[in-house]
Amino acid sequence: MASPRERLPMPAPPPISDDGPARDTPERAFFGRRKGHKLRAHQSDLIAHLLPRLSLDISAAAPPRLTTLFGPQTGRLQIQQVRIEVGFGGGEHLIAEAAAHPQTGFIGCEPYVNGMAKILAQIEARGLSNLRLFAGDASELLAWAPAGSLKRIDLIHPDPWPKRRHWKRRFVQDATIAAMTRVLGDGGEFRFVCDIDHYVAWTLEHLMRSRDFTWAAERADDWRLPWPGYTMTRYGAKATREGRRATYLVFRKNSSGV
Ligand SMILES: C[S@@+](CC[C@H](N)C(=O)[O-])C[C@H]1O[C@@H](n2cnc3c(N)ncnc32)[C@H](O)[C@@H]1O
Repeated sequence: MASPRERLPMPAPPPISDDGPARDTPERAFFGRRKGHKLRAHQSDLIAHLLPRLSLDISAAAPPRLTTLFGPQTGRLQIQQVRIEVGFGGGEHLIAEAAAHPQTGFIGCEPYVNGMAKILAQIEARGLSNLRLFAGDASELLAWAPAGSLKRIDLIHPDPWPKRRHWKRRFVQDATIAAMTRVLGDGGEFRFVCDIDHYVAWTLEHLMRSRDFTWAAERADDWRLPWPGYTMTRYGAKATREGRRATYLVFRKNSSGV
C-alpha cells in the first residue's frame, strides 16, 4: 500500500516575498512580542501570585517522569501522560483540551505576558489542576524535557515569518524536529495547524525528510478539516474571517529503530 507521503500531493508553496537570502544556520531564539497592552489589576495579581505556582523552573533538572509535575491529584484522576502546546496565545485550545482530558497533564508555553494573564484567569475560573506553564521559548522547554517524556506537541497558528530572510525564525526547523524526536515517546504526535500555505508546505517538507515521523493523513479531509474535538483559536478565527483556510497536519513519531 502506498504511504500517505506517496499518495497525497503536497500543497504547492505560493509566491512569497523574497527580500534577501535566508542564512543556512538556523538560529534558535525567540523573536516575538513579550508584552502588549497594560495588564488589569487582577491580571497582574495572577501573574504575581498564580503564575509562580504553575510555572516550570527549567533551571532545575526535569523529573525523570513529567507526570510527577502535576503532583498527587488528591480526589482527582491521576495524570497518565503529558502534552505541550507551543505558543498558546489566548489559550482557547489549551484550556479546552485540559478541561476535556483530566488525566493528561498539559504544559503551555507562551512568552507573551498578556496571553499568560488570559490563561491564568481561565485556569482560576475553571479550577483546572492539570496545567503547568512556561513563559519562555518552547525550544528551551524541549531541551529541558526528558527523552520520550511527551505524548504530543501542538503548534497552532505559529508566527508565519513570511519573508525569506526570516524563515530561520520559524519554529519548525531541522533542529526543533530533532528536539521533538527526542522528547516524544514512540507513537507520540506532533500536530500543526496553519493558515499560511508556504509554512504548511515548509513543515511538510521538513517533517517528510525526517526519518523519525510519518504523516498520519489518509484522505484529503484529514488535512482540510480539523481533527475531532478541535477548538478554534483566536488566530484561527481571524484567518477564517480574512478568507484564509487552515491546514491540519498530524505527524506520528515512528517506533525507535524504524
Ligand atoms: C500567531 S500567534 C498564535 C497564538 C495561538 N496559538 C492562536 O492560534 O491563537 C503565535 C504565538 O506563538 C508564540 N510564540 C512565538 N514563538 C514562540 C516560541 N519560540 N516559543 C513559544 N511560543 C512562541 C507567540 O508569542 C504568539 O503568541
